[in-house]
Order: sequence, then C-alpha cells, then structure tokens
Amino acid sequence: MEETLNQLRAEALAEIAAAENEQAVEAARVKYLGRAGSISMLSEGMKTLSKEEKPRIGKLLNEVRGQVTAALDARKGALEETRDAAAFADIDTTLPGAAEWRGALHPMTLLLDRAVGIFRRMGFALADGPDIETEWHCFDALNTPPDHPARNEQDTFYLPDGRLLRTQTSTIQIRTMESQPPPVRIIGPGAAYRRDEIDATHLAQFTQMEGLCVDEGVTLADLKGTVEFFFRELLGDKVGVRFRPHFFPFTEPSFEIDIKAPALGDRWLELAGCGMVDPAVFDAINSRRGDHAYDPERVSGWAFGFGIERLAMIISAVPDIRYFVENDVRFLEQFR
Ligand code: DAH
Repeated sequence: MEETLNQLRAEALAEIAAAENEQAVEAARVKYLGRAGSISMLSEGMKTLSKEEKPRIGKLLNEVRGQVTAALDARKGALEETRDAAAFADIDTTLPGAAEWRGALHPMTLLLDRAVGIFRRMGFALADGPDIETEWHCFDALNTPPDHPARNEQDTFYLPDGRLLRTQTSTIQIRTMESQPPPVRIIGPGAAYRRDEIDATHLAQFTQMEGLCVDEGVTLADLKGTVEFFFRELLGDKVGVRFRPHFFPFTEPSFEIDIKAPALGDRWLELAGCGMVDPAVFDAINSRRGDHAYDPERVSGWAFGFGIERLAMIISAVPDIRYFVENDVRFLEQFR
C-alpha cells in the first residue's frame, strides 16, 4: 500500500505539472481527489489494514492528499496568471486614462444663484411671470404711454395677437401686485427681449433681475441700504455704490446705480435702474384689482432692475456677451 501511494503521488504530481490548461488541472483533480478518484479509493482500502499499519499509512495518505491538493492549486494559479498576463499584453497601462467629462452649471446660473441667495437672506421671496406678456403689463401699468418710444415696433417683438415678448422684468412687479396685497418683498429674475442689433454688449434675449419692496413707510434709504448690502455681499467690502438721477416712467424719483470695486478696475460702471414706485403704477394696480390695497397715501415702495449678463461680464471679465449663449465648452469650462 505504501508503495502504491508513493507511486500514485509521483504520477499525480507529474501529471499536474504537465497540465497545459485549466481543464487538464480540473481533470487531474477529479482523477486523484474526486469521490471515485484514486486517493479516495485508497482511503477506502485503509479498512483492510492491520492496527499497526493504520497510523503510518494514514499519515502518508494525508501527506499525499495534501501535496496533490497544493500542487493542483499552484498549477491552477500559475495558469490563471499566464492567461491574465496574455490578456493585458496589448494594453499600455502607462497611457493616461480617459477622464470622464463632467458637466457644470452655466456662469449665468452660478451668478443668479448667488444673487438670489443674498436677497433671500434679506427676506425677499422669488417671483416670476410669463415671457409672453400683454402690452398692459409691460407698458401701460408701468406708466409708459402708447406714444413712448419703448413701445415702438423697432424696439419690441410683437405677436400677431398684440401680445409681446417682455422687454423688461418690471412686468413681474405688476404681476405680483395684481395677485397679492402689500407688504411685498420680491425678486424676479428672468429673460427680457429687445429688438437689438446683436453685438459684443447686446443680445436680443438677455437676463434681468427685478426687485420690489412695498409696505408702509418704505423710503429711498431702504433702497440704498438694500442695494449697498447686495453689492458688498457679492463683490466685497471695498465696493462703492452711487445713485445717479435718471428717468424711468414707473419710478419717481429714479436713479441709475453705478458701482466701483478694486476687482473691477476701480471705474464707475452703470449696472441697474431703480427708484421709488410712481403712484401712477399703484393707481393702475388698484383699478385692475378693484380695491385700494396699494393706496399711495398709505404705502410706498421701491424697485430696481439689474442686467445680469452685464454684471457677470464685469465680475468674470468676459469681453463679449455672446460667449454666454454660444455654448462653447472651452468658455464654459472656465467657470466650474
Ligand atoms: N426696467 C428697466 C430697464 O429695463 C430697469 C429698471 C429701472 C427696473 C428702474 C426697475 C426700476 O424696477 O425701478 O431698463
């Protein structure tokens, strides 16, 4: 029996060493270790041995089984390694990987999110209105008479039914006051449209952000404080804010807002319009609502309108407004 075992061991190890593929290794495993395999058969034969022989042969049997198992595992591992190495042979693992391309928010979205965030902290709510508007919401209610040049067909996109693409987000003021009584504190970002020649500083569609505050005892000082706080938050403590007298039909008095900041070359830049809501606007709202919720004797208000592209161009030193709509990733990728 001992001799048979030694022979079997030599035969098994030689066969395993010569196995050329994983199937051959598996066949050898079945042949030597399987239930009907030679080593298992020999274990059966243990029963016939004498008491003296049993421990010695038993030990040898375990030893052979262990060696054959180890040889099978080792051969299988070696074959797997060869197979893996062959699979990688044609791949240059030193090549730089192809990084996954990730999208990002548009620079205008990034700025709008910040601007909206600052006003929300001051208690302003978000408001909106339709891009396709009635003449009443865009002009009449905003104290802009029919002969005002802003209503000219050269300046505005009219639809066949008489409606138009809003030329300013000031329509959002009107929509808000129509549907809710004071107090009002809203900001309304959105698209505005003008029949402008497209060039480095003009698009036919651009973005504005409107602000409106109406309550009892609201003054120009509140407007100045709010606007100054906004620009400090956006551009830092060193920013200068200047109100320059101007004219808008829907505010009285009216101003243009100029700002100056070290980061912007310390020049005064015109950025927005604002003023105290004209009582004529409140009158128009009241007659639409059929009440006196916006009684000019009781409430007052201020409003402003920013051009967002202009602000983004100044903050990010963008020389041409058209970059914002051309969707050139080389431009957009600079704002992650
Ligand atoms: N709507 C004006 C424009 O498009 C900007 C503006 C000026 C908005 C004064 C206002 C305001 O709310 O009070 O030029």
